[in-house]
Amino acid sequence: MTVMDTTPSSAAVATDAVAATAPEAVEAAQPAVEREIKMAARGVNVFYGDTQALYEVGIDIANNEVTSLIGPSGCGKSTFLRCLNRMNDTIEGCRVEGSITLDGENIYDRSLDPVLLRARVGMVFQKPNPFPKSIYDNIAYGPRIHGLASGKAELDEIVKTSLEKAGLLEEVKDRLDQPGTGLSGGQQQRLCIARAIAVKPEVILMDEPCSALDPIATAKVEELIDELRQDFTIVIVTHSMQQAARVSQRTAFFHLGKLVEEGETNQIFTNPQDQRTHDYITGRFG
Ligand SMILES: Nc1ncnc2c1ncn2[C@@H]1O[C@H](COP(=O)(O)OP(=O)(O)OP(=O)(O)O)[C@@H](O)[C@H]1O
Ligand SMILES: [Mg+2]
Repeated sequence: MTVMDTTPSSAAVATDAVAATAPEAVEAAQPAVEREIKMAARGVNVFYGDTQALYEVGIDIANNEVTSLIGPSGCGKSTFLRCLNRMNDTIEGCRVEGSITLDGENIYDRSLDPVLLRARVGMVFQKPNPFPKSIYDNIAYGPRIHGLASGKAELDEIVKTSLEKAGLLEEVKDRLDQPGTGLSGGQQQRLCIARAIAVKPEVILMDEPCSALDPIATAKVEELIDELRQDFTIVIVTHSMQQAARVSQRTAFFHLGKLVEEGETNQIFTNPQDQRTHDYITGRFG
């Protein structure tokens, strides 16, 4: 694989466009608004027992952006993702050091309820995991627990809009009472995304959400991720550099537990600053 193979077509177009425009236009093309930081990690170290899995990770995650976490297997992507909604708390022997903020508030603060945090920072897993319940009840589960609907009509509305946002409503609207587990893999993953959306999170974490899906279902979920960006902040772990290039505005490259480099996706794939990033995106390891 060469650098060019992994270059997203949109990035290539963007680079050409910049090269062909006058300097003042290039300046005008710079983002006028500053990125609004939704989550910030500083000095994050994670240990599983005596083994350290992450070293001094620091990153800013901006509102309404998709951030991809990439890197070879075992480099700590999932570990870091789980830090962002304290899912590591549920792993015996796992210890997290450093600070992670959500809207400036430390999510590891004792006063913060992890259950409420996970409603604000939702998660979609690699393998679609619908509850053994109806399609309707899969979506309604979170809103019921968190008391988000005052009655049946409101709950119906939440279920409907969540399915709509997840691009699934048309396919399932006539069988909401049937089991979620009866859907295809791609539909199940969109159901899980609808379930995550239903509690109106601010951030959605996705750990390789397409790795169990075929190319068509993958394309649908990728399209969906791009739409969801309007309303949510998204952090996605992916093994596919093409996917990172297609869906994300920012990319972070991890290697051996360290965040080696983070920046605009276009820059990471066309002009990486670190040799390790270069080696990874050109297929030299991983
Ligand atoms: N529950 C756990 N207990 C002990 N060690 C763990 C646990 N989970 C992860 N690790 C270790 O932490 C390191 C980082 O693992 P992690 O799962 O975060 O990597 P990853 O980048 O997500 O890899 P992959 O791409 O294979 O999913 C690895 O060395 C792994 O063995
Ligand atoms: Mg992982």
